Amino acid sequence: MRSQAVKGTYDILPSATPTWQFLRETVSTTLGRAGVQEIVPPVFEYSEIFDKSIGESADLVVQKEMYRFEDRGGRNLTLRPEFTAGVLRAYVEHGMHTLPSPVKLWSLGPAFRAENVQRGRFRQFHQVNCEILGSPGPLADAEAIALLHDLLVALGLSDLRVALGSVGDPEDRDAYNAYLREALEPRKHELSETSQERLRLNPMRVLDSKSEQDQAIVAELDKPLDRLGTEARAHLDGVAAYLSDWGIAFDLAPSIVRGLDYYRRTAFEIHAEGIGAQSALAGGGRYDGLVESLGGPPTPGIGWAMGVERVFDALEGAGKLPAPPAGPDVFLIPMDEEAIGEAAALSRSLRAHFHVQHAYVKRNPGKGLRDADRVGATYAALRGDRERAQGVWTLKHLQSGEQREVPEAQLADALQENL
Ligand code: HAM
Repeated sequence: MRSQAVKGTYDILPSATPTWQFLRETVSTTLGRAGVQEIVPPVFEYSEIFDKSIGESADLVVQKEMYRFEDRGGRNLTLRPEFTAGVLRAYVEHGMHTLPSPVKLWSLGPAFRAENVQRGRFRQFHQVNCEILGSPGPLADAEAIALLHDLLVALGLSDLRVALGSVGDPEDRDAYNAYLREALEPRKHELSETSQERLRLNPMRVLDSKSEQDQAIVAELDKPLDRLGTEARAHLDGVAAYLSDWGIAFDLAPSIVRGLDYYRRTAFEIHAEGIGAQSALAGGGRYDGLVESLGGPPTPGIGWAMGVERVFDALEGAGKLPAPPAGPDVFLIPMDEEAIGEAAALSRSLRAHFHVQHAYVKRNPGKGLRDADRVGATYAALRGDRERAQGVWTLKHLQSGEQREVPEAQLADALQENL
């Protein structure tokens, strides 16, 4: 038996949970104030939901990287590699297009991709996902980007730069892909294996290659932004104008290409320094047409997902992770057998107002105080024969060492006054 977590997965230990609580609260407040509501789709879906949305030709990588399985009823299921498909499936299934538009939805949870594991790249990772459905204009795009930006700032990051681009309308993409095919076909054998495959399936993805040689080859070519149609260009200019008005710094990215195939027009990413090669904290874009391909009415949409692990990595680098949880207000130390039950009962009543822990076995004062110190308690309260006879607890402030006897009935008040 291998007693270890599966490669590419990890445990969220108690020392990290305050950071997760902080994340959830900040997401809920920041997005909630903009009318974005939480939705919690299941972790797995029928595989066709992802096939129809992410696309068969899609970034081959995402296709191969899906955790697919057949359940005992013979259903072909897939662990979600991202949220968008499931959220849109729910939008269609529950007729949410009849709600006041736009419909804004956020989610937080794990996603699964069987990728090569490295820093910032896991097989079970977590995303905060946000979708704005029902609005075709650039204002929705700008608001989506601004919400992501404001969320990252609220989490404690600064100096963020948005890389803003456009993959154009479908006809622009087709024309650009045709241009790339024509330009690259003669030099195909100089390209990396991955890029040759991409050239066949989705030439635009060659621009995203990590290989230096591929990059040198594509550097000479036109970029998607150079070949946008008039409408896609006007849309991009509209998004850029809003962001400039709102003081959100961005760079126009001439060849931003996203790993998923459903994007139309706007595509964007936010990167961070100092978190290694996997520097994209978040990415997203517009996906008009996707709701339709999942069986819903024609519905424009735009959204993004933020990689939680990468954001935590960046926060840690900036020294901005929340402080570890505080220890108990008081730690009760039973010094004889009878005091064990007394400490447990007193803990229960004090917990109405305080964080209280107690030793489960009798302790001598030295060991008991050491336990109290190790859990980071502010006070220790000791009880033995002598205290019982007088109906008191010996209350000791651990840092100053000050101590006094307090009647049991007044213990709550004493803690309240001094905390
Ligand atoms: P994505 O770019 O595939 O977009 O993922 C978004 C973010 O998730 C990435 O920027 C990265 O921070 C994080 N991420 C992705 N894969 C991993 C991994 N293996 N390990 C750790 N972090 C990872 C989407 O998923 C789209 N659904 C976003 C979207 C929503 N577009 C429209 N709506």
